[in-house]
Parts: sequence; structure tokens; C-alpha cells
Amino acid sequence: MTEAELYTVYKGVYVPKVLHPLECLKYYEEFTFRPDDILIVTYPKSGTTWMQEIVPLIQSEGDFAPIDTIPNWDRVPWLEEHRANILNLEERPSPRIFATHFHYNMMPESYFKVKPKVLYVLRNPKDVFTSSFHYYGMASFLVNPGTVDEFLEKFLDGKIMFGSWFDHVKGWINAKEQEHIFYIFYEDMIRDLKESVGKLASFLGKSLSQEVIAKIADRCVFKNMKQNKMSNYSMVTTEFFDQQKSEFLRKGTTGDWVNTMSATQSDRFDATYKEKMKDEKFKFVWD
Ligand code: A3P
Repeated sequence: MTEAELYTVYKGVYVPKVLHPLECLKYYEEFTFRPDDILIVTYPKSGTTWMQEIVPLIQSEGDFAPIDTIPNWDRVPWLEEHRANILNLEERPSPRIFATHFHYNMMPESYFKVKPKVLYVLRNPKDVFTSSFHYYGMASFLVNPGTVDEFLEKFLDGKIMFGSWFDHVKGWINAKEQEHIFYIFYEDMIRDLKESVGKLASFLGKSLSQEVIAKIADRCVFKNMKQNKMSNYSMVTTEFFDQQKSEFLRKGTTGDWVNTMSATQSDRFDATYKEKMKDEKFKFVWD
């Protein structure tokens, strides 16, 4: 199916119609944040699901109950997604934990007034591209990626769900309320998950022992998290996600782009990256 059939254009970016009915987008526009809300913000395929596992465990101080009993989409709902408007989020006790794929300039008015805590996850865009390529091949609500060359052009042009990776990252790294935002790299989480869990806990004002931090990190490493049916999307029907084609928790590694992109495609990516990111002073771990 085509973009016109599967996507709506919302605030300038494509969003899949099935996931984001207009009444849910409207609900988000009118949503009221609390100052102690925790908002996980990502460009798709940057590590959202991973954070939906880690952050509830930091809040529960290592009690596994939330991740063993509540599916990740209810545990940390996306504010723009279907069902957000019927989850009674207003009744949830603080601190509430949410996820969003919105660009900075798409955020609702309340975000800029209240300034909740944001955890912004960054990942090497070539790995985001690669993860997306496989994901678009298995999710029925997304336009089939076609060849790597075809998908590369769409990715670099932002003609995919949630638009351009470059615009998303530039918007959030240049956000005004820096003291409310914690930037975390997928690559750093792979390198030393305990260290990352410790930093996240400090930012969230949680004082956890080294033992609890180690327990959380161990539970959230890829091979352990992949076993969690509340987080691996095995409860979702194959009509929606065909995990025979590609698993949602696919490889969980860094640098896998070399297995998908040719040297020419990589050069094409680098040239666009250089041009689009030329004015940014932010220190990216992959630069
Ligand atoms: P790959 O497709 O490269 O494996 P999102 O949740 O934002 O959609 O991102 C999905 C990506 O995060 C997938 O990448 C997935 O495997 C990876 N991921 C999820 N949980 C992970 C974990 N515990 N450790 C490492 N990577 C993880």
C-alpha cells in the first residue's frame, strides 16, 4: 500500500493512520503535563522499548512487577497513540511515565508551560536506518521499504513515519529547557548499561544502591529483555507485526548497518549527514 493510503500528514510529518487516529492526536494536543512527569522521547527505532523497560524499574527500585505484569504500551504509553485517550492517564499517580515520537516543534502547549522531565535517546542514524528498514518490512501499517536504495532516499528525505531523523534530533538537541532534558546514547547503554542506569536514576532523583542498579541492568540486557513477553511484542497479532519476517527485538547491537548498507550507500548517507548537521555543536558519540 502507498503513503497516501497508510499515513496521515500531521504537523508536517507522516504518521501511520492505524496508530494515530485523529481523536488521539487531538487528545495529546490538549493534554496537561505535570512537572514530575517523565517523558521518553525518541525518533522511532532509537531504543524506545528499551527505555520502557528501564525507567519503570528505576521508579520501582528494582521490583520487576511492572515489567512482568504490564505490557510496555500500557506501562509507558505513547501520548500520540491509539488508546492514549481511554487509559485514564489523568488518574495515574505521579510520577507518570510516557513516551512520544513527536518532534520538539510538535509538542503540545502544556509541555512548554510545565516542562516535565525528558529523557531523549539518540542512536547512530545508520543503525536507526537499518533497524527501520527491517521494521518497515514486518509492520503492516507501514509502507513496504522496497530496496535498500529506495528506502535510503525516503529516510534521508524524511518521507517516512515521523519525518526526518535530522529534524527530530536537531529540534531536541537545541531545546530551550536544557536543565529538564537528559540526553542518552543507545551506544553508551550498549557499552555500559549499569553506568547508564545509574545516570538515569540520578537525573530522575532516585538514589539506588549499586546492587539494585546491577539488578536492573542485568534484567534489561538484550537477551534477557527479549524473553519478556510483556515487552517483546509477541502478544501482538501477526496481522500487525509479522515477526517471522523480522523480530521487533531484532539484533540489539551497534554498527549493524554494515550488514545492510553498501559502501556507496554509506557514502551517500555520510554526505547528507555532513550537510544537514553542519551547524550543530552537539557532541555525538559516533562522530
Ligand atoms: P534493532 O532493530 O537494531 O535490533 P524502538 O524501541 O525505538 O522501536 O527501537 C527498537 C530497536 O531497539 C531495535 O533495534 C531493538 O532490538 C533495540 N532494542 C530493544 N531493546 C533492547 C535492549 N534491551 N538492548 C539493546 N537493544 C534493544
